[in-house]
Amino acid sequence: MIFSNIGKIATFNPSSGDVEISDDSHIFIQDGNIAEHAEGELFDCGGGLVTPGFVDPHTHPVYVDAREDEIAQRLSGASYEEIAAAGGGINSSIRAVRDADKDDLVERVSKRMDRFLSLGTTTVEAKSGYGLNTDSELKSLQVIDEVNKFHEIDIIPTFLGAHAVPPEFKNDTDAYVNLLCDEMIPIVSRQGVAIFCDVFCENGYFDSDQSRRILTVAREHGMKLRMHADEFEDSGAAELAGELQAVSADHLMAVSEAGIKALKDNNVVAVLLPGTTHFLGKESYAPARKLIDEGITVALASDFNPGSCRIRSMPFILSLAVEEMHLTIEEAFAAATYHAAQSLGIEYRVGSIEVGKQADLIVWDVESLEEIPSREDTLPIRAVFKRGKRFEVSA
Ligand code: NIG
Ligand code: FE
Repeated sequence: MIFSNIGKIATFNPSSGDVEISDDSHIFIQDGNIAEHAEGELFDCGGGLVTPGFVDPHTHPVYVDAREDEIAQRLSGASYEEIAAAGGGINSSIRAVRDADKDDLVERVSKRMDRFLSLGTTTVEAKSGYGLNTDSELKSLQVIDEVNKFHEIDIIPTFLGAHAVPPEFKNDTDAYVNLLCDEMIPIVSRQGVAIFCDVFCENGYFDSDQSRRILTVAREHGMKLRMHADEFEDSGAAELAGELQAVSADHLMAVSEAGIKALKDNNVVAVLLPGTTHFLGKESYAPARKLIDEGITVALASDFNPGSCRIRSMPFILSLAVEEMHLTIEEAFAAATYHAAQSLGIEYRVGSIEVGKQADLIVWDVESLEEIPSREDTLPIRAVFKRGKRFEVSA
């Protein structure tokens, strides 16, 4: 197929390291990939901007219902941390996932993926982490795998058994860490779905030593590493991400100077989640400017989950990155496409418009990148294509 009547094409170019805008009026697609030439059906882009689809490298979509009640609790003054300590938070999503039928979860996750695609996200990382026992974590990963097989979107699966300490291990985190290391990780590895292992390394969840144990065992079992690092407090998590040379360290709202140095020295990608800061009504955005100015590769993600962030829209995440974290639109756009793909180790196939890569493309109703952040109340997307196939956008 052929995209015609393109206004401008915007893409990160890995050879120059910059976002480049071209006036090319056509893109050729052959067998789902971008090609030098192709024949066939024309798609008229109406003079609009064309970009690669977004890559969202941090989401938690495998749950039953969202915890809307926590919004009211926050409005009456309780913080996310206080709500969690009082029995809400991650642990209150666990019972329902444990009880859920696998097919019910598949249907819920599939619908969530429809919405991601309609918002222009063509590749998404998805974590388990609301089962927190062997069977329910395996079930959650199987759900991700099943949806990945039939849904157009590409899903990169992550095992997050270390998302919280489940109620039956209350006051004995080490015993749960033993279960993770001795039983869950080996079985998850044999199941073969999870590419990454993640840990919520944070005061009150898993400390640096416990996180090191879990991630080291995960690596021995063939998983790549990413981390929830220094989200609310400096917990030495970014330092650990550097020490273990994790592929990514995510959140980083409270990262220390030493943590920043560790990320830089070890080429860890910083995945920033401004939607969570915004959704929780906080002002402590991650120090994005500083990370970029230090030369650290910065990616953006939604953190879509049932409690701390209900946002899926990467266009809105771009707005927050620009307005609240003071990135340029080009920096934010590169962070949500190519650098996000780098944080998942898949930049060779998605995240930019280049011959040979997947034809994962957004045709916009705007003419320039600059217009995207100013369209917060609408979705200025005309069409989304995954491997050259149009996905119908339903508002
Ligand atoms: O990334 N920080 C830990 N995990 C999620 C929160 C998930 C939840 O509250 O259910 C996060 O913010
Ligand atoms: Fe998260």
